[in-house]
Amino acid sequence: AEWMRIVDARKEESAGVDCEIRGWVRTRRDSKGGFSFVEINDGSCLGNLQIVAPAELDNYADEVQKLTAGCSVVVQGKLETSPAKGQATELQVTSLRVLGWADPDTYPLQKKRHSFEKLREWAHLRPRTNTFGAVMRVRNQICQSIHDFFHENGFLYTQTPIITASDCEGAGEMFRVTTLDLDRLAKSGGPVKYDYDFFGKPSYLTVSGQLNGETFATALGRIYTFGPTFRAENSNTSRHLAEFWMVEPEAAFFDLADDMQLAEDFLKRIFTDCLNHCAEDMAFFNERIQKGVLEQIQSVIERPFGHMTYTEAVEVLENCNAKFEYPVSWGTDLQAEHERYLTEQHVKGPVILTDYPAEIKPFYMRVSDDRKTVAAMDVLVPGVGEIIGGSQREERLDVLTNRMAEAGLNEEDYWWYLDLRRFGTVPHAGFGLGLERAVQYVTGMGNIRDVIPFPRTPGNAEF
Ligand code: 4AD
Ligand code: MG
Repeated sequence: AEWMRIVDARKEESAGVDCEIRGWVRTRRDSKGGFSFVEINDGSCLGNLQIVAPAELDNYADEVQKLTAGCSVVVQGKLETSPAKGQATELQVTSLRVLGWADPDTYPLQKKRHSFEKLREWAHLRPRTNTFGAVMRVRNQICQSIHDFFHENGFLYTQTPIITASDCEGAGEMFRVTTLDLDRLAKSGGPVKYDYDFFGKPSYLTVSGQLNGETFATALGRIYTFGPTFRAENSNTSRHLAEFWMVEPEAAFFDLADDMQLAEDFLKRIFTDCLNHCAEDMAFFNERIQKGVLEQIQSVIERPFGHMTYTEAVEVLENCNAKFEYPVSWGTDLQAEHERYLTEQHVKGPVILTDYPAEIKPFYMRVSDDRKTVAAMDVLVPGVGEIIGGSQREERLDVLTNRMAEAGLNEEDYWWYLDLRRFGTVPHAGFGLGLERAVQYVTGMGNIRDVIPFPRTPGNAEF
């Protein structure tokens, strides 16, 4: 019999097919009529396949009746139309082989429901739960859609280094990468000589691939990077990770309006694909995680995103009745609570904020004619807040070097970045999407630690 994934075995048209199923037991129920019902899951879909194992099997008493949650099995038999509700087919078993037992006294994932907090302690086992299986399938779909979207729009997938000497965002949130024995050096009290360090100068894990991405965009036109990025920010929130995945498109000859249109088309494509290709998982999130998330995503696809300038947003926030923990006035960075007010109470949907004060944004953003704001855009969504951050880049050498001086950056350290402005400079723009925040938004999952396989947060690098 040929191996079949459960996602296919569960389809009505599979009735009558002889096949082999490989997976893990979820539950077992013995009937008085001389057979056992066993629910098998293989991760190919949310639903289990019910198998019907008759007492005639030679290992029925010894093995079948001892199956518990977590055991791995290979089962052969014929798929038949199921009389039971909620499933089109079931498997009439002719042979069942147990590959691995799971001691019910010590296997943590028993029938009882565990909190997401508890499941983080078993990050190696939680992919076996319904919720994490569904999250991982949606995350996989989003990754696929990212590549599809950019390829279809002429963006070339390129790779940027993880180890770097430059702090793209200028926020000083970088993890050091070093072979120096920093403890010993600190005790010795002398000056640290980086000549002896592996890279000959202080090096870090990248916070963003953008600066490298710009070098490719100003040669190949349209590119995107997609990889892990790192932030040593000590924030214990439900939307921050120390290691997260970022997608960063960069396009030559793009201005801010082009950039915003790209971001909106891109997000809508991801959402549409999730509804079309992860319908079962999305229905699960809609029912069990966040009521109404399906409808929300659907309506976001149909409507144009809202647009506001930062200045308009601050006016709204200053004049609304909501009580904020952090005060807001022109020039302050918006906090999560402000982003949530704007998306959930004011616009009631995604909104693109533009034209932020230059002082609160990184050096590479293009300075506007008013000299006070930059051509920045952030996409905010209900529930999550900022999901995308982007901008048109400063392509004028003199303006850029002035901005760098203001930011206290050394021109020599960025000589190669400045060369892009010295030789054939062009207007260009790009943005970064945090993959995990996108997964959070689509699934309605409340905590970012529950949408990445192995979360890295302050105090936690287990697994
Ligand atoms: O707004 P950010 O810091 O922008 C950049 O890094 C730009 N260089 C991107 C670019 O223009 N190419 O980060 C971009 C996105 C945020 O909007 C957010 O979705 C996500 O990355 N992000 C995080 N996600 C999880 N944990 C964190 N600590 C994050 N910091 C940023
Ligand atoms: Mg940002």
